[in-house]
Order: sequence, then structure tokens, then C-alpha cells
Amino acid sequence: MKLPFTESYKIKMVETIRRSTREEREQWIKEAKYNLFNLKSSQVFIDLLTDSGTGAMSDKQWSEMMIGDESYAGATSYYKLKDAIRDITGFPYYLPTHQGRAAENVLFSAMIKEGDIVPGNSHLDTTKGHIEFRKAQAIDCTINEAFNTAIDHPFKGNIDLDKLKDVLEKYPAEQIPLIIVTITCNSSGGQPVSLKNIKAVKKMASQYGIPVFFDSARFAENAYFIKTREKEYKNMGIREIVREMFSYADGMTMSSKKDAIVNMGGFIAMNSNVLFEQASMYNILFEGYISYGGMSGRDMNALAQGLYEGTDFDFLESRIKQVAYLGQNLKDNGVPVQYPFGGHAIFVDAKKFLPNVPKEEFIAQTLAIELYIECGVRGVEIGTLLADRDPGTRENRYPDLEFLRLTIPRRVYTSNHMDYVIAGLLNVFERRNEINRGLKIVKEAPILRHFTVDLKRA
Ligand code: F0G
Repeated sequence: MKLPFTESYKIKMVETIRRSTREEREQWIKEAKYNLFNLKSSQVFIDLLTDSGTGAMSDKQWSEMMIGDESYAGATSYYKLKDAIRDITGFPYYLPTHQGRAAENVLFSAMIKEGDIVPGNSHLDTTKGHIEFRKAQAIDCTINEAFNTAIDHPFKGNIDLDKLKDVLEKYPAEQIPLIIVTITCNSSGGQPVSLKNIKAVKKMASQYGIPVFFDSARFAENAYFIKTREKEYKNMGIREIVREMFSYADGMTMSSKKDAIVNMGGFIAMNSNVLFEQASMYNILFEGYISYGGMSGRDMNALAQGLYEGTDFDFLESRIKQVAYLGQNLKDNGVPVQYPFGGHAIFVDAKKFLPNVPKEEFIAQTLAIELYIECGVRGVEIGTLLADRDPGTRENRYPDLEFLRLTIPRRVYTSNHMDYVIAGLLNVFERRNEINRGLKIVKEAPILRHFTVDLKRA
């Protein structure tokens, strides 16, 4: 018999989670104004809101915490992290930041000005937020296949080279400070970008003299997909592939809360000394002195160790296969999901799941609420709420895809937990035709509204 995949670790410490009743959950979600971010975590049984900062650190990471150096300047922890970043990514310069969006804030302060254009593959909400906050524009150049959940394409995160070329032709190079390639592409479903595509983007960018930066939160998962889906790289190790990927970038921003398996942390890394010096000024202003940038020494130590654990093939395989286990079971039961499955999450196609709910009533959010009430599982909307309003017209932006994202934290839940999620979602699927109405906005913030929005039943 072929041996099945299994976790590449065993459990040394556990945390109790409590089941609740449907009546309790109906009351709690009403009090939370139908916004899952407003729930207390104690009101959630299985938390699939995000894989960001929710992973379980290893014994080695915890032991690294004990020997962190908390010196204000020049801490050994800063140098330990510098060596790990150089070793894993190849970049000689780095700045620690407290998380990914802080890295974006610092880097964009040095690079982006009003009126600029930043092409990329479905920029994440915070990335787009930081671009639009500077009165610049993010242009999505993702391949069209990404927007059809039923099409099987191995690299749905790829940049469409024709779309990119159009942007590079239309605007002068001075107006395009950088191209951002998000690996893996979160917004389109944790979908990878192929090395072939990465190389082609870099080649085109060089012709126009524009730097390429990777939004690298899930770079190791991207490397796993390259190894398993791109023939030429199947015999290469994950770390070799990672080095090759980054060799086609001028720099990177990192949310270490994902593939580096820490609860908090981020960084910027780059080749250019000049940019490093410019960004250092903003790092000191916003984050802290350049040798800690919002992180404590112990956290930098745990992050340095996490970069190695997160790029281990056996770990990546058990992680990605756990996500695929969830996806395959849902798909086999007819649930419409983004296919192939992404690295960190299963993206349920909410428009197909709930065909009777009008788009003005937030279809994916409605599905997320139904799932929570059904079984206490908290997913997250990646749809119209997240897409915000157009900064010019203030009209709602209706994205092509409305997703309920079931995001799997690293090394936290077992296959039994996945079976529970599957059963809960299938129960909602069974009564999908009875769900006809969604939600209405009561109150919203002008930017990144999904975090704080108040809703009521329509
Ligand atoms: N880039 C990507 C691709 C991300 O997925 C995130 C965060 C960030 C940047 C920002 O990093 O949270 O450390 O400030 N994504 C989380 C999520 C929030 O749930 O997908 P951060």
C-alpha cells in the first residue's frame, strides 16, 4: 500500500478549544454586527480566518526565544536574522519591520509618489491600501484564467505579459517605481507564480528599467508548487528554487507571519545599498532603529529559525497536502472551489455556492456567516467588502470572484478538524437554495472597511 502523507512533526503542547451551540452563535454574530472580525476568539471553534501569525512555533523556535539579544543597537539577533535572510533569499541588505504591511509602508515611502502606477498580480488589500493611500494606482495584470475557478491552470498567480507590456508602454518609466509580484498570489486563491513567468517579468521590467519586488509572504509555498508543477525544477531542492526565484527580484517585502511561522514580524530585503539607506530613514521614523525595526530580539531569533523550518520540503508537503485534503473533499461533494487548490487556503466560489443572493448583499460574507452559525468555523470574506469602494467614484467595486476563504494555520489543526469543517460546509451546501438574502452595510470606514464594518441582515 502506498504510504499516505502525514504531518512532519508531533505535538508537544495543546490548547483547549470549546464547542458552542447554534443559539449561542446566532446571538454572538448578531452582537458582532455580522462582522467575523468582531467575534471573540473564544466564540470560535475552528479559526480559519487567516494563516497569518496563527501558526504553531516549534520547540527550536521557542528555545531561540530564550537566547534573543534585546540590545537597542547591534543585537546578535539582528545579525542572526541577517545571515538567515541572506542565506535563504540571497539579498545582502535588510530592514526588520513589525509585520508585512509595515514593510510596505517603509518601502513605499521611499519609492512611491502621488500619481505613480504600480502593476502587479492582484495586489493584496493592505498593499493596495498603501499604494492608494499615496494617491498612486495599483494595476492588476493577473492572467485571466485566475478569474475562472473551474479552469485548471498550474500557475494561476502568473502575470499576463501582454497586460504588463500595455501598462509599461502606456506610462513613462518615471511613473512606474516598481512592479510587485505576489508569491503566492493571495487574492486569487493562494495561487503560485511559475519561475518561467517570474523570469519573463524580470526580463521585460529590465527592458524598461523598472525594478521588480516580490511580496513574499508565502514564497516557500510558491517554491513547493514550482518543484511539484514545473517540470524543469522537479529535482531541485526548495531552498535552491527559493534562491533562484529571488535572483530575479531587486528586493522583497515579507510578512513573516506566514511562511516563516512566527506570530509577529516582517522585513524588507534588497540588493541596492542606495535604496537601503533611503528606506532606513523611514524605518527609523515608523518602526524603530534599523537593527530591531519594531521586533524584539527574541522574535528575530525565532524568525531566523522559522525561515529554515518554513522552507523544509517535508513540512511544506504536509501543509499543502492538508489544504488539498480539505479542498478535494469539498470538490468531490460538488462544492465550487478555486481549482487547483492554493497553498494556504481553500477558496470557495460564493457566487456559485449561493446563486440566489444578490451581489449588492455581499454574497461571500453571507456564506461566511452561515458557516459560522452552522458549526462555529470562522472563515473570511474575500469579495465585495474587501474590494472597498473605488477611490474616485466611491461606488462599490464588485470583483469578478466572491470568495469565502478557509485559511489553514500552519501546524495547528489535524485532519479531524478538516473533516469537521467539511461536514459543516456541506450542511450549508445542502440548504443553499433556501438562502436568498444577504447583508446590508450599517457603517463603514473609508479604507480597508472589511475589518470594522457593521452589517445587518438585508
Ligand atoms: N502580503 C500578502 C500576500 C499577505 O497575504 C499579507 C497579509 C500581507 C502582505 C500583509 O502582511 O498582515 O503581516 O501586515 N495577509 C493576511 C491574510 C492578513 O489574512 O491573508 P501583514
